[in-house]
Amino acid sequence: MEKTIRWGIIGTGNIGIQFAQGLQAVSDAKLLAVGSRNQDAANEFSRALGAPHAYGSYEDLVNDPDVDVVYVATPHVFHKEHCMVSLEAGKAVLCEKPFTLNAHEAQEVVVLARRKNLFCMEGMWMRFIPLMQTIMKIVAAGEIGEVRLVTADFGLPVEFDPAARSFNPALGGGSFLDLGVYGMSLAHQLLGSPSAITSELILGPTGVDEQGAIILRYPNGQMAILYSSLQTHSPHEAHIMGTHGSIRIHSPFFCPHRATITKFSKIKTSPKTQDRGGLVSAIKQWPLVKSCYQRLSGVLAPLCAGNQRTLVRPVTGNGYNYEAEEVTRCLQQDRLESPIMPLQDTLQVLQLMDDVRRQANLTYPQEEHKFTLV
Ligand SMILES: NC(=O)c1ccc[n+]([C@@H]2O[C@H](COP(=O)([O-])OP(=O)(O)OC[C@H]3O[C@@H](n4cnc5c(N)ncnc54)[C@H](OP(=O)(O)O)[C@@H]3O)[C@@H](O)[C@H]2O)c1
Repeated sequence: MEKTIRWGIIGTGNIGIQFAQGLQAVSDAKLLAVGSRNQDAANEFSRALGAPHAYGSYEDLVNDPDVDVVYVATPHVFHKEHCMVSLEAGKAVLCEKPFTLNAHEAQEVVVLARRKNLFCMEGMWMRFIPLMQTIMKIVAAGEIGEVRLVTADFGLPVEFDPAARSFNPALGGGSFLDLGVYGMSLAHQLLGSPSAITSELILGPTGVDEQGAIILRYPNGQMAILYSSLQTHSPHEAHIMGTHGSIRIHSPFFCPHRATITKFSKIKTSPKTQDRGGLVSAIKQWPLVKSCYQRLSGVLAPLCAGNQRTLVRPVTGNGYNYEAEEVTRCLQQDRLESPIMPLQDTLQVLQLMDDVRRQANLTYPQEEHKFTLV
C-alpha cells in the first residue's frame, strides 16, 4: 500500500479553498492542516474543508511535524518567503503560479530546495490536465509536423479596485504575472527559450499592467503570440500550428477538456514549382479546361480542406487534483522534482517574464534590485 501524503495549506483565500476541494479527489492524499494570518479564518477553513489542524500563523503550520508537503496559496509577492520558510522547516513544497515574482527569487528557492534535498514544484496545474498531456504526446509524435506558431490568450475583466490583488503593486498585481504566465509556460513547453521577445504592457493607474501582448521569436523562425488582459474577456484558447496540421485547444486552454486536431491535406507548393514557365496557368485558361476545373474545385475543396478530429477528455474533480496527484506520486517515489514541471522550466519561464517586464519598465515595490537575472 502506498504512503498517504499529508498536506498543509498556507493561505485561506480563493485558490487555497479550490485546491483543498481538489485534494478531496486525490487518493493517497489527506488535507491535514491549514495556516492563516488569522486564527478565525483558519478555523473556518478547517471546519468547511475538513482539515484537522488549524493554525493562526504560517510558522505554526510549517512546524507541524505531521505535514509532509505545504501548498503555498498566497499572493505571488509572498511566494518566495513562504516557500523558503516551508523548506527551512523540512517540508516539500507545491507553490502557486507564478512560482515567485521574478527569476532571482525563484533561483533562491530552487537553491534551498536542492540544498535541503526536498521536493519543490510550481503549481502550473495546466500541465497536468489529462488532455494537455495527450496534446503534448500528439505534438511529440509529430502528428502536426514541426511546430511553427503558438498562440494563447487569457483575458478576464476584473472590476477596478486599487487595493485588490489584481491591481495592487504591493500584492504583485497585473495581468501578465497572473494570467499571461499560462501562455508563456505553454509556449516554453512547446518551443523552449526564444531568441528574441517583443512586448507591450499597458500599465494602469496603479502602475501594473492591465493588458499586454507578447511576441516570441525562436532561433529557426518559429513564433509564439500571447496576450493577457484584466480589461476584457478573451476566447481563452490556445492554438498550436505545425507544418502538417494544427491543434486548437478550446476554452479554457489552461484546464482543457476539448481540442480539435486538423491535419493539412497537402502543403502548398510555391507557384514557381507548381507552374513551370506559366504552362499550367495558360492551360487553365482554355474555356473547356477552365469550366471543368472550376466545377471540380467546388466538389473537391471541402474534401481537401483538412482532416479534422475532436478530442474530448472530461476533467474530473476541479482540475487542481491532477497537480496534487503528481506531487503525491513524486513524494511516494522519493522524487525531488516533477518531470512534467521541472524547476529548470520554472526558472526559464520567469526569466522570460522578467524580460517582458523589463521592456515595459514594470517593477514591484519588493524588487529592490530590479531584475537581477540568474
Ligand atoms: N492556479 C490557479 O488557477 C489560480 C487561480 C487563482 C489564483 N492563483 C494564484 O494563487 C495565488 C493566490 O491567489 P488568490 O486568488 O487565492 O488570492 P486571495 O484570494 O487574495 O488569497 C490570498 C491569501 O493569501 C494570504 N495572504 C497573506 N498575506 C496577504 C496579504 N498581505 N494580503 C492578502 N492576502 C494575504 C491570505 O490568507 P490568510 O488571510 O489566511 O493568511 C489570503 O486569503 C496567486 O499567486 C495567484 O496567482 C492561481
